[in-house]
Amino acid sequence: MAANISLQSSSIRDVTKMERIGAHSHIHGLGLDSNLEPRANSQGMIGQGKARKAAGVILKMVQEGRIAGRAILMAGPPSTGKTALAMGMAQSLGSDVPFVMLTASEVFSLEMSKTESLTQAFRRSIGVRIKEETELIEGEVVEIQVDRSITGATKTGRLTLKTTDMETVYDLGSKMIDQLQKEKVLAGDVVSIDKASGRISKLGRSFGRAKDYDAMGADTRFVACPDGELQTRKEVVHTVSLHEIDVINSRTQGFLALFAGDTGEIKPELRDQINTKVAEWREEDKAEIVPGVLFIDEVHMLDIECFSFLNRAMENELAPLVVMASNRGITRIRGTKYKSPHGIPADLLDRMLIIATKKYEEDEIKEIVKIRAEEEDVKLSEESLDLLSTMGIQTSLRYSLNLIAPSNLIAQRRKSNIVENQDVKLAYKYFCDVDRSATYAKETSGMMFGETEIDDQPLQNNGNIQSNGNGNGNGMQIDGQ
Ligand SMILES: Nc1ncnc2c1ncn2[C@@H]1O[C@H](COP(=O)(O)OP(=O)(O)OP(=O)(O)O)[C@@H](O)[C@H]1O
Ligand SMILES: [Mg+2]
Repeated sequence: MAANISLQSSSIRDVTKMERIGAHSHIHGLGLDSNLEPRANSQGMIGQGKARKAAGVILKMVQEGRIAGRAILMAGPPSTGKTALAMGMAQSLGSDVPFVMLTASEVFSLEMSKTESLTQAFRRSIGVRIKEETELIEGEVVEIQVDRSITGATKTGRLTLKTTDMETVYDLGSKMIDQLQKEKVLAGDVVSIDKASGRISKLGRSFGRAKDYDAMGADTRFVACPDGELQTRKEVVHTVSLHEIDVINSRTQGFLALFAGDTGEIKPELRDQINTKVAEWREEDKAEIVPGVLFIDEVHMLDIECFSFLNRAMENELAPLVVMASNRGITRIRGTKYKSPHGIPADLLDRMLIIATKKYEEDEIKEIVKIRAEEEDVKLSEESLDLLSTMGIQTSLRYSLNLIAPSNLIAQRRKSNIVENQDVKLAYKYFCDVDRSATYAKETSGMMFGETEIDDQPLQNNGNIQSNGNGNGNGMQIDGQ
């Protein structure tokens, strides 16, 4: 049997060049200038000027960090850039401002109650910037001496460090000796030792030793020998989220749970304790709160219990900015019999600032298709670009973006690097858009599986999908469950 197992090296493909390209990987920000005016084509963003500007204003609010408990709703037809705008916002926030993305359906998990998972999401979106002063010993290694006892069980030694102004000998215990060996510290290295934890980090090799005969790698970094005292103080700032503090401090979880992602439910008393502690740190000026953004996509999937939780949670002092997105029109609020705009209860809607996203014009679609083609490394001929943009208007932007990759494959089949009209047409034939798929479903009505209704309420709008007809209707999906 073993003889049959082979690796078949010829069939092992070269995967090093493979890179995955996400739907929003072309977006690098909101593309606004310093006055928050949208640039026509910047950071991967095209058109949707008003919504981009509104998102920019909200970002300013977050960055100033004073306003808690606001909610924003991005409402508009499918593929009008709601998720894209959120990604743009995420990229424009500072590096330590938390941005947490959640799809409403993730809240419904068997392991955790809905409110617990929303609470965790809230606390993941609040950062705590902690300032710590640490004492370091920084200097160039002059000599390391290790004395081994006869049995070899205990090790002691001495480390001589110098700056340009002084030189000191430190006694070493076996832990430090092990660390020095692990880090491969040699005479001539410039090292920094954290006094509290004893951690050693190598900063580089001293310039003074640059000419030494030594086997050095090409990536050896040279640094100057430090001056002044060997002992220095440094302020280090690090940002963790409230949720991380919760997990680390919950006895049943421990910090390993952070890596496993399996954090389970956390007791409310623990959260209270942590809030009090953080408040203390703030008073002592040791910590700052960094409110971030919680983005809840497809928010119509939340149910009435979640919404009432959100109403209350947003009033908390430690609340992030909550941004939600929905493409639904008037639809049923989950868990009730009532309908409401976007499936969101009126009292919550009333607390929100609503940003509307609009359908794109043909020239905007053309620019977006162009950017996406570049992102996917596909060359489109002028005509095929026009064709894809026209399709974008007649079907949907997403559909024409989705056709880029198949058209490219079809072009490659005929050994061409450039996608021409014929390739796009073939791709259009192979893959249905929503309109054609709906027509097909109607034609085959009764032949497909699972068409008998279970719900006691009759479906409206021919099976739940309201297509845009000629594409330029107002396009909101109305789902009449
Ligand atoms: N203004 C824009 N500039 C550049 N790319 C955009 C823009 N708007 C949308 N896109 C791109 O078009 C595609 C569809 O947009 P997106 O996913 O943001 O739509 P959506 O409004 O979230 O739709 P849905 O309601 O179906 O979730 C994405 O690949 C997105 O990156
Ligand atoms: Mg979306």
